[in-house]
Amino acid sequence: MDPKPFYIDGQWRHSDAAIDCYSPSDTGRLVARYSRSAPADVDQALECAAHALGEWSFTTGQQRAELLDKVAHAIVARAQEIARVLAEEGGKPLNDSLAEVQRAAWIFRFFAGEALRITGERVNSVRKDVDVEVTREPVGVVGLITPWNFPIAIPAWKTAPALAFGNCVVLKPSETAPGCAWLLAQVLHDAGFPRGVFNLVTASGSVTGKAMTESRHCDAISFTGSAAVGQQLLEAAARTRKRIQLEMGGKNPLIVVDDADLETAVTVAISGAYQQAGQRCTASSRIIVTDGIWEEFSKSFVERMLAVRVGHALAEGTEVGPVATRAQLNINQHHLQLARQEGATVIGGELIDHDPAGLYMRPAVLLDSTMEMTANREEIFGPVAGLIRVRDYAAALAVANDTPYGLSAGICTSSLKIAADFKRRSQAGMVMVNLPTAGVDYHVPFGGRKGSSYGPREQGSYARDFYTTVKTAYVGYV
Ligand code: UN1
Repeated sequence: MDPKPFYIDGQWRHSDAAIDCYSPSDTGRLVARYSRSAPADVDQALECAAHALGEWSFTTGQQRAELLDKVAHAIVARAQEIARVLAEEGGKPLNDSLAEVQRAAWIFRFFAGEALRITGERVNSVRKDVDVEVTREPVGVVGLITPWNFPIAIPAWKTAPALAFGNCVVLKPSETAPGCAWLLAQVLHDAGFPRGVFNLVTASGSVTGKAMTESRHCDAISFTGSAAVGQQLLEAAARTRKRIQLEMGGKNPLIVVDDADLETAVTVAISGAYQQAGQRCTASSRIIVTDGIWEEFSKSFVERMLAVRVGHALAEGTEVGPVATRAQLNINQHHLQLARQEGATVIGGELIDHDPAGLYMRPAVLLDSTMEMTANREEIFGPVAGLIRVRDYAAALAVANDTPYGLSAGICTSSLKIAADFKRRSQAGMVMVNLPTAGVDYHVPFGGRKGSSYGPREQGSYARDFYTTVKTAYVGYV
């Protein structure tokens, strides 16, 4: 199988080294190969992007809107093909993959509109016969580093605003699932973006991070991934004073109080904890349940969890696919082992024999777990949830906020008063009432507090805070 090329300055390039992608649903099957970009390639991509910026940053919003709209149409037209690559490389069930591709198209369409809505302010000066204008300009060349768990939606929600606001892009997708970003590069190429405006490199994270933080051609970096890597990037970017935006982990709580609708609460909890095998930074990994509903809820939760259909990402009826990588599967199993040692009652979590063989495990729950257990403190990024029993809502709220993370938090309740109080007191960037902590709209801000995020919010009209820089102009009347 020939490795697929990376994309720099409007040209497809090969190298001698390759990245091999095997299907997590069928680990014996090689799905695709990609030419590996060398450090010099990443540098060159940044340099070409800087060169292209001269003209691109002065295009009209109308020109950029039309190109972005073309991308949205092309993504819809190629949805089946992109979704299949997504399902094969990342193990996400085909229906979920299709939904993600649709979301990517909506994001491009939304930002096509945003390209036309770049506004500024005219302010009265404190001086006589002087006007002040505040305008938004592109930041410059933006380096984007994206993870494997949303391999088309996250590249879309970083690339689309970057281009809409007149920036040039170097995108580095995860080596685990680069296929969707590769198809996105093809779509952008076919849409007719000028050379160098968008570039795709398939290098390792450390090579890319070093190049982006050190290159004088890179002005800003947007990263989604683990907290540990985010911290390293932040420190490296501080040394060269790059603008940076980080979306990292979560340990998202879902509270279920006595007055919750049981059926809704169980559905919300199961989906939040296990959809996409728990591989979402917004997954509900701590389910905090008050005394009065504990018995009913935990019984029903376990029943529903054991009934979740785990299978091949392309098989009809699969609800949860395999874990994306062997390393992730090992981390999940290690956490279950540790939880048992720490005294948790673990239900589920077994490896599943499957034909063909893949990275399959049953969803797992830690019954009667406590906040002292490692699994309830550290992000696992797998189909593992801790059920925590508390006395009442006040205790649940304290447990919910007792985490270094603050991405998303949910509550199931039929009380407006409790819902309002939770919306106010939750220390998360996104709060959900009677909805899973994961699964967000694409036109409103996305991001968290505390250790989950750093820098301005992503998505919606708030994306402009990261992808533009402000200029203040003074005009005196002579
Ligand atoms: C969602 O829950 O719909 O990596 C999106 C992640 C997040 C995206 C979650 N950045 O899981």
